[in-house]
Amino acid sequence: MKVTIAKIFLFMLAVVSLYAYVGQLVPQFEEHPPKKKVITPQTTGDDLVAAGQEILRGKGGCLICHKDQERGNERGPDLRRAAGKAATRKPGIAAEAYLIESMVEPYAFIVEGYPKMMPPAMKPPASLSMAEVKAVVAYLQSLGGAEVTVSVQAGDVAAGKKAVGPVHRGRQLMDANGCLGCHKLAGEGGAVGPELTRVAERREPAKIAQKIADPKLWTAEGFQAGLMPPRPDLPEGDRQEIAAYLAGLSGKAYSPTGAASPWSHEGVRLGVVIAVFNTVMLLVLAWARSREKSPLSPGPSPIEGEGRNAAGDAT
Ligand code: HEC
Ligand code: HEC
Repeated sequence: MKVTIAKIFLFMLAVVSLYAYVGQLVPQFEEHPPKKKVITPQTTGDDLVAAGQEILRGKGGCLICHKDQERGNERGPDLRRAAGKAATRKPGIAAEAYLIESMVEPYAFIVEGYPKMMPPAMKPPASLSMAEVKAVVAYLQSLGGAEVTVSVQAGDVAAGKKAVGPVHRGRQLMDANGCLGCHKLAGEGGAVGPELTRVAERREPAKIAQKIADPKLWTAEGFQAGLMPPRPDLPEGDRQEIAAYLAGLSGKAYSPTGAASPWSHEGVRLGVVIAVFNTVMLLVLAWARSREKSPLSPGPSPIEGEGRNAAGDAT
């Protein structure tokens, strides 16, 4: 009986180890494929407004300087009032045209009391297409309570299509989350924060992933603390993808698949459940076998005998 239990225990250990090993090989985090929202001339009304909101808050990087809610910054005018002011800002130019111009050619008219700092929306880092600019204008119009007059033409869509090769998902995430509004990558982007092209040479990739959620972890020398917006809302997997992309730029391999704690891993948990289940099954079987034998020869000897048998089988 003792040997049977020892065998069961070893078997269980083997099962757990196997699952733990296989589990480590499987990426730990969920994949969030980027939402592909293509703006076409058929995108109108609420859909266009929603697309515009997503661009303004995401890849447009507009909240680095503007507010569209209580959230955002005050380097530029509050965008909740932009549509209302648009009609009177510049004589001879209609509200819709003014809004488009203020995004595409921000220096054509500088709002009084503000510095000349807004990057043209169709140039890096935002690199919006005209269709995307118009979507943002639709959002600004609806935000200001104005009628949505803007509409996307076929030419606006074609103008935005760029022939680019596959882009690392970490890079897409950085673009989509406005990192380049403040950071440069290979010379492209803003200068509010340090250039990130070789950041993985001075920082651990795992730490970079943490810093995105909690910028207070450290402050890069020569830069102001508290400017970088904390993004704990970004899924762990997305933050790791960004860290992996930045690691790659420095020639480092970083694949964040290792489990921080084995118990946090699905594979390990499943392994334990199966192992416990198997153990119970085997114990019940062993118990049934010992009960079958015991009436024939009562006393402790059959258990001893079975132990020797089992040991014999093993060799
Ligand atoms: C680096 C900071 C910065 C970023 C990023 C930025 N802006 Fe601006 N924006 C400004 C400043 C400063 C002004 C006011 C001076 C001027 O007119 O250029 C301004 C002006 C504007 C105006 C005119 C507002 C008015 O009341 O007349 C609009 C509209 C606007 N921005 C929209 C956007 C949108 C949309 C984005 C994102 C695609 C964006 N901005 C990104 C700084 C920024
Ligand atoms: C509003 C501007 C702003 C945005 C947006 C921003 N950052 Fe930063 N970031 C900063 C500033 C300023 C610093 C330097 C001060 C500090 O370390 O907190 C910094 C520091 C960093 C550092 C540390 C660099 C070093 O040399 O140690 C990393 C890594 C970083 N940011 C990554 C990101 C990523 C990734 C994103 C996008 C998800 C992002 N940042 C968005 C402003 C920004």
